[in-house]
Amino acid sequence: MKICRTKAEMRSAVCAWRREGATVALVPTMGYLHEGHLGLVRLARDKAERVVASIFVNPTQFGPNEDLETYPRDEARDLALLQAEGVDAVFMPGVAEMYGAGGDTFVEVPGLSAILQGALRPGHFRGVATVVTKLFNIVTPDFAVFGEKDYQQLAVIRQMVRDLDMPLEIVGHPTVREADGLAMSSRNVRLSAEHRAQAGVLSRALARAQELAKAGADIAALDAAIRDELASAPAADVKSVDIRDAETLAELSGRLERPAVVLLAVAFGSVLLIDQQVISPDT
Ligand code: PAF
Repeated sequence: MKICRTKAEMRSAVCAWRREGATVALVPTMGYLHEGHLGLVRLARDKAERVVASIFVNPTQFGPNEDLETYPRDEARDLALLQAEGVDAVFMPGVAEMYGAGGDTFVEVPGLSAILQGALRPGHFRGVATVVTKLFNIVTPDFAVFGEKDYQQLAVIRQMVRDLDMPLEIVGHPTVREADGLAMSSRNVRLSAEHRAQAGVLSRALARAQELAKAGADIAALDAAIRDELASAPAADVKSVDIRDAETLAELSGRLERPAVVLLAVAFGSVLLIDQQVISPDT
């Protein structure tokens, strides 16, 4: 497995594969890998002959009061996990290599970035869209695999790729969960034991929403039932509950007539957990 710390090393590895006619899939990550990331890697493996994983904790997507400094990191463990999955190359640049000095260009999908998580984290999706564009330009993948857990991020990236005619396919991977339903996330290790024991409430609230959607509940009833379930966890600080059109993320009201996505943001202490599920009146 090649370890590329510079853009030049990464480009030359991809160039050599291209000369052999190989296809390339990219799995962008911020490291501290878990089973959820490894699912993305396995899907990338199914899609292309060569797989690149990137590990880069991207400063431009963190707000001034967010957890950039404390974001968990474990390079040696990440590399061992990627090697065991048969990844061909890992791109792990430092911040200076990735952004250089004097950069002044950003990529923004303003509509989708200003709502929901974007309203809570101004500038976040601009940072994501910019770094993902840079990764696409450096690795030039045929496929890039992202988790559906970050539903809004995936929607932003899909729109960006469509709007800017980026020549690759975006592939979504279903959320990978712990035994109690908690969506896997690098942030989960920062939950205290007490908070970890309560964190399964997000997936229980989503399951309840799906049941009620099937039974014909309207948006207001779904919202009330989700909040009720979340309130059963005493430490859950509910930041947002949104039920939106599954495709456009537009607001919905009244009867649920087509697939919607439920998006949750719930803090336990200083750890913000997000989760999502597509619900539909007829599944
Ligand atoms: O989902 C993430 O881990 C990050 O937002 C991404 C896509 C790697 C960009 O930094």
